[in-house]
Amino acid sequence: MCGIVAYIGNRNCKDILIGGLKRLEYRGYDSAGIAIMVSKCLKKGSSPDISIEVVKEAGKIKEMEGQAKEVKVDGKCGIGHTRWATHGEPTKINAHPHRDCSGKIAVIHNGIIENFEELKSELKASGHRFISDTDTEVLPHLLEKYYDGDLLLAMQRLMGKIKGSGAIVAMSTDSPGEIVGARITSPLIAGVSRDGNFLASDMPAVLEHTRNFIVINDFETVRLTANKVEIFDKEGKLINREPFKANWSIKNAEKSGYEDFMLKEIFEQPYGVKESMRGRLTNGQLHFDELGLDSEQIKDLKKVQIIACGTSYHAALIGKQVIEKWAKIPVEVDFSSEYRYRDPLVGEGYLFVAITQSGETIDTLAAIREARSRGAKVMAITNVVGSTVARESDSVIYTHAGPEIGVCATKTFTSQIIIMYLMGLYFGKIRGGLGIEDYGKIIDELHMIPNKIQNILNRADELKEIARHTFKHKCFLFLGRIFGLPAALEGALKLKEISYIHAEGYPAGEMKHGPIALTDTRTVVVGIMPEDSVYDKILSNIQEVKARKATIFSIISEGDGSSKKYADYLFEMPRTIEELYGILSIIPLQLYSYYIAKNLGKDVDQPRNLAKSVTVE
Ligand code: AGP
Repeated sequence: MCGIVAYIGNRNCKDILIGGLKRLEYRGYDSAGIAIMVSKCLKKGSSPDISIEVVKEAGKIKEMEGQAKEVKVDGKCGIGHTRWATHGEPTKINAHPHRDCSGKIAVIHNGIIENFEELKSELKASGHRFISDTDTEVLPHLLEKYYDGDLLLAMQRLMGKIKGSGAIVAMSTDSPGEIVGARITSPLIAGVSRDGNFLASDMPAVLEHTRNFIVINDFETVRLTANKVEIFDKEGKLINREPFKANWSIKNAEKSGYEDFMLKEIFEQPYGVKESMRGRLTNGQLHFDELGLDSEQIKDLKKVQIIACGTSYHAALIGKQVIEKWAKIPVEVDFSSEYRYRDPLVGEGYLFVAITQSGETIDTLAAIREARSRGAKVMAITNVVGSTVARESDSVIYTHAGPEIGVCATKTFTSQIIIMYLMGLYFGKIRGGLGIEDYGKIIDELHMIPNKIQNILNRADELKEIARHTFKHKCFLFLGRIFGLPAALEGALKLKEISYIHAEGYPAGEMKHGPIALTDTRTVVVGIMPEDSVYDKILSNIQEVKARKATIFSIISEGDGSSKKYADYLFEMPRTIEELYGILSIIPLQLYSYYIAKNLGKDVDQPRNLAKSVTVE
């Protein structure tokens, strides 16, 4: 949450900062600001007068950009921030950058300073003046207090004083040729280029300027000059770390003609799932060395524990079903935010798996740390190379879905599901849980999934039309059973987050135990009802809600005639095997939610109150 970008080099930085912030806007978008070091020569021959100009505004980046156009702020060293408020309302005064009393130091921060009240009182008692309600504002004042000619040293002292999390970036007019940064938990990367160097929360911020990156690790500090990036460890010792080349390109981070990132990312799914299979599933053979487990270890597995949040949690629910069904290993799925508070058991032969597209979700990170402290070996499934979760896990499976900019997870979800299928198959084959015939059939079906997703996408207009007829309803129930249930939960989550309509995802068979009371003419019931082993059961459940006058929208298998008479609206999916309906049925639901939100005029890429990476508890 919150996006950070900084630049120092030989180019004017205003546009670089604003452009970078726009690419980071998915991380937070309630206010934004930039600070630029400006050097003016007031008299010929005299030394320049150096100051920091700050432009900030409440609201989205375009509000701040409008202000920045009005002011002449040219300089080659600057920092920028887009905020997701934690402490203090999203107002102009609380927007970053924040400054010290002298106005010589400017700071941006992503994270939470847990002991800020205490620090603020101490600083106030020694005469520091505060103007905002934020926790961040203690940082420039601490730097002011610790600065004695070396900004990096002041940052290192500050690190010893604060509790909580943060990626912190600062500059000072007393050290005009440098920008310094520090990291505790929240992500921070350095971008290296011939024209100057960058700091950012995430690669897309600066991909148009460089693809060479260095990850800053926890408790490290960094000093950026126009031609050098120096990283220091916790003890302040210089570390030698070479940049790596990102295989993401700027095209991935642009809308490329689509109206929204979300729509673009939905349409990228045939390619995304192929990428997730690439190198792992070739010519009917599975290769999964990345799992870091040999056949004996797989045969000895007693339990798989999966933790995740939000959409990733729904991918875990599909993982549970396929690993249990195909590999005959019991699987436990937990919300990351619950796991560490419930005194979990970690035993011999357990495999602990964390699923997170961003690799930065703080609850997932905390659960990983808890599991490792109890002796678990952690396997991460993530989309972001070099993310904190990737670095803190014993093995990593990358989903390779490409950057996902829309706050709503779409293509990363289907890629996570593919990894779940591949894991289930791989374990199943090694443990003998799956016969050769079944194994071959599943692999054949998996190969066909990208085309079947494409088939659904080609008929997006049908879903647009159904959305146009139903978007005014106030209550939506998404019902599914077995592999349709994670899709139902995910469908409801999509609709809630981008349209702000009340929606519930529910096991269809549980309706009569309570939620059926919600059903009347104002309710839309979306039934995920492919012709699978529970088809007859869900058909009865749908008739029950139909009898209570709900509007029924059924997602069915191609050519299924029996459900038609109970449905007001229908969408037919290409046929596949029971397990793979888990991935296919989410595609119409993503599109349906998208079109409902668009009918309601909502901003689907940046829904209110949300952020792409949830780095606060
Ligand atoms: C999905 O659309 C949401 N934005 C959210 O639920 C997300 O899936 C959750 O925050 C987990 O994120 P992660 O996969 O990056 O850990």
